Amino acid sequence: MGWCNNDMVDELFGWDEVAAAYTGRFSDELDAKPFDRKLLDWLVERADPIGPICDLGCGPGQVAAYVHARGGETCGIDLSHEMVQHAATSNPDISFQVGDMCELADIETGAFGGIASFYSIVNLPPTDHTRAFAEMRRTLRPGGWLLLSFHIGDEVRHIEEFLGERVRLDFHFFRPEDVRSRLHSVGLEVVETIQRGPYPEPVEAQTDRAYLFATTQPEDRPRVSGEATWPEKSPGRR
Ligand SMILES: C[S@@+](CC[C@H](N)C(=O)[O-])C[C@H]1O[C@@H](n2cnc3c(N)ncnc32)[C@H](O)[C@@H]1O
Repeated sequence: MGWCNNDMVDELFGWDEVAAAYTGRFSDELDAKPFDRKLLDWLVERADPIGPICDLGCGPGQVAAYVHARGGETCGIDLSHEMVQHAATSNPDISFQVGDMCELADIETGAFGGIASFYSIVNLPPTDHTRAFAEMRRTLRPGGWLLLSFHIGDEVRHIEEFLGERVRLDFHFFRPEDVRSRLHSVGLEVVETIQRGPYPEPVEAQTDRAYLFATTQPEDRPRVSGEATWPEKSPGRR
């Protein structure tokens, strides 16, 4: 398995090894996550009229499956060959392929109306964010939408066992303001930042989570809740 940061190729592994167990554990997880389903409904409403919605870092493809069930055109990309195999087997009507979000060499510029990236930047150190976000920006059509989620915090959790498999993975937590600023630097304007606490065990790990909606163009729209934030001002862009 390759990684954005080539220095990490021999240091980190695990998604291929854990793919079967992860699929068994998480492929139906959205059934128990109405908040996430609502945000995906919103993504479909916004992005589907613009173009296909890519489940980037798709794992077993549960997000693509949900988008498909809502009538959205969708596909999935993941760095792990095994994850892609499981996603494709579980969802024969959806196209999945192997790819590195830091270098989406096979994906044309402006291929997508939307990108859902659910917890797929979890292994990317902040130094790799700009490359990944620039690829998201490049592959989105003008006016396209990114829905990006991640665990909130400052820590890096290193694990050597996951779902009964031997792995070596670093899980990075991020601050929403830092991610917003990196997205802004590549031309993706965050228009909503929505945070939630965890669903109770055993639904998911007990961490706070952020969901950022970003678009390639600034939008004039109302604040949706006390937790939402306005896009940062960019004199050159508005
Ligand atoms: C925590 S899992 C999330 C999977 C799925 N999106 C979900 O919500 O369950 C992280 C996924 O990101 C993938 N991933 C990690 N680094 C990646 C990269 N550079 N490019 C594409 N996928 C990557 C992993 O293979 C793994 O399937």
